Amino acid sequence: MGEVDLSVEVARIRMKNPVMVASGTFGYGEELADLVDLNKLGAIVVKTITLRPRLGNPPPRIVETPSGMLNSIGLQNVGLEEFVSRKMPFLRKLEIPVIVSIGGERPDDYVQLAQELSGVEGVSGLELNISCPNVKRGGMAIGVDPEETYELVWRVRMVTNLPLIVKLTPNAADVTEIARAAVDAGAEAISLVNTFLAMAVDVERRRPMLSTITGGLSGPAIRPIAVRMVWQVAQSVEVPVIGMGGIMSWRDAMEFLIVGASAVAVGTANLIDPTAPIKVIEGIESYLKRHGFSSVREVIGSLETTPKKRR
Ligand SMILES: Cc1cc2nc3c(=O)[nH]c(=O)nc-3n(C[C@H](O)[C@H](O)[C@H](O)COP(=O)(O)O)c2cc1C
Repeated sequence: MGEVDLSVEVARIRMKNPVMVASGTFGYGEELADLVDLNKLGAIVVKTITLRPRLGNPPPRIVETPSGMLNSIGLQNVGLEEFVSRKMPFLRKLEIPVIVSIGGERPDDYVQLAQELSGVEGVSGLELNISCPNVKRGGMAIGVDPEETYELVWRVRMVTNLPLIVKLTPNAADVTEIARAAVDAGAEAISLVNTFLAMAVDVERRRPMLSTITGGLSGPAIRPIAVRMVWQVAQSVEVPVIGMGGIMSWRDAMEFLIVGASAVAVGTANLIDPTAPIKVIEGIESYLKRHGFSSVREVIGSLETTPKKRR
C-alpha cells in the first residue's frame, strides 16, 4: 500500500497530521516530553495563559462522572511573563507548530496578550479561549454573546498578524451564530468544543462535588453533542474547523473529520494516556490506507447524508 498524506493546513498553520492536543490537557508540553515524542503531533496547544499568573480555583476541582469528568481548574497558569521566559525556550525548539491559548477577564487582557505574544519567536498562532466555564469574568461570558465575540476578535485581529483561532463554548444558545461572528471579525479557524457547564452532587453530604459548585464536563459523554456542533459549524463558516470533545481513539477522531473538521484535538484522553494522540494518528493513517484514500483531506467533510436507494 502506498503512503498516505496526513498533512493539513489550518489558519495558515501547516501540520504534518491533523491531530493536536487540546489546551489544558497537555500542560506546556515539557511535562510530558519524557512520555511522548512531541514532534509526532500535528500541533501543540498550550494551557491557556493569562496576563498574570493564576492559582486557579480551590480543590476539589476534578471529579469523575459517567463516561467523562468535571473540572473547575479555573485557568491556573504561570502568566505571560513566565510563559515567555520559562516555557517558550523549550517549546520553540520543537519541530511542530506551537499554538498559544490566551484568556482574560476583560477584552483588554486578550488584546495585550496578543500584542505581546506577536513579538515572541516560536509562537505559531493564537487560540482565543472565550469559552472557559470556570472563571467569573471573561471566558465563556464573552463566548455566549455574538456581539461581544465579534468585538473581542476584531480588537485582537487589529493588533496581531499571527494566525488566529477562536475556541467556542458549547454553552451558547446557537454555536453557529457565535462562529460566524468570530469569522466575520477575522478568525482564521474555529475550534470547538470547550467543556459543557455541568454539576455533580455528593448526596450523602448534600454538597456539590466541586468547590465552585459547577464545572466543565469533558470526555466521551459529550462526544455526540460535540460531533453535532462541529458538523453544524463546519457548514456555517468558510474557515477550517478544529473538532474536539471526547476523542479517545482514532475512530472518534474520524467522526469529527468526516463531519467536516479539518483537524482534531485530543483532550481528556491525555489525562489517562498521554500517548493517546499518537495512537489516534496511527489509527487515522491505517483507516485511510484501508479505505484507499491518498490524503486525509479527501475524507474531511465526506459525510454521506443522502438516503440509500431502495432496491
Ligand atoms: C483538566 C482540563 C483543563 C482544561 N483547560 C483548558 C484551558 O486551559 N483552556 C481551554 O481552552 N480549554 C481547556 N480545557 C478544555 C479542553 O481543551 C477541551 O476543549 C475539552 O475538554 C473537550 O475535549 P475532551 O472531551 O477531549 O477533553 C480543559 C479540559 C480539561 C479536562
